[in-house]
Amino acid sequence: MGVKGLGYVVVETTDAAKWDSYLTKVVGAMPNGQGEDGAVLYRLDDRAARFRIVKSDVDRFSVAGWEVEDQSAFEELTKKLSDAGCALTAGDAQSRGVAALACGKDPAGNLFEIFHGAKDASESFVSPAGVSKFVTGDLGMGHVVYGTLAFDETHEFYRDVMGFGDTDLPEIEVGPPGTPTMGVAFMHAKTGRHHSVAAIQMPEPPTGCVHIMVEAAERADVDAAYERMAAEGVAVSATLGQHTNDEVISFYMKTPAGFDLEFGWDGLVLDPASWKPTAHTTPSKWGHEWTWQKEMAEAAAKAEAEGAQS
Ligand SMILES: [Fe+2]
Repeated sequence: MGVKGLGYVVVETTDAAKWDSYLTKVVGAMPNGQGEDGAVLYRLDDRAARFRIVKSDVDRFSVAGWEVEDQSAFEELTKKLSDAGCALTAGDAQSRGVAALACGKDPAGNLFEIFHGAKDASESFVSPAGVSKFVTGDLGMGHVVYGTLAFDETHEFYRDVMGFGDTDLPEIEVGPPGTPTMGVAFMHAKTGRHHSVAAIQMPEPPTGCVHIMVEAAERADVDAAYERMAAEGVAVSATLGQHTNDEVISFYMKTPAGFDLEFGWDGLVLDPASWKPTAHTTPSKWGHEWTWQKEMAEAAAKAEAEGAQS
């Protein structure tokens, strides 16, 4: 029972053409026409839709779709949510291409959906950008990371109500030395992807999330995606690096909605039955130079050079 993984994401956009170009040419997702709800669909695997891009007057991450095994798991989780005081509405399952759907909001205000029975596409998956394969299946399509000042409530909601397990609970420093640390809760679903959801103790960004992550099957897929990002003029957010906690080798780039997309390889899969939560002190073993870190280092070097001249 419990959530298997991140089944799909819904993104709102003012510029569907930009998302089309980004997803097909840079990420390597396969277009799959329009859903009954009017969303433009993109695939990462056999599923008919992993990305649902919806026209809007804002650009933001909109919904995380959490997948459960079957109808009985769906009923169990929706009852647990209702019992915990989380107001759910029955979504239009058919228009989402799933067998059952319930929609709600977490304590931070992030929209989520619970579903099971998503449809597969009729054709085989072929990445238009040549990605060998995305790592999905039971592990889900990747992860989503939120920022929220309702940090404790949000962490407790995903752990105690949604049923995620704590994976890594570090306190990190983002900014120059002396910056107050922020809590982070990395949590895993029952199939063991190191984290399917994470919350960072920071103001909720207007982009709706901090980042989402997709995982490719080969290291070469990451390097090729980095090249496509540069070739298509997409801004890098963090250079290639390896995370300490999930050991993924990845880079981050801006999406057309302003949140980041982490494109990675070889993320850790843990055993939820025996995992003991960790508390890493460094985000990365190597690399992952963030644009803001680079800008700060450049500004400091410039100030030093100017000081030496005067
Ligand atoms: Fe990530």
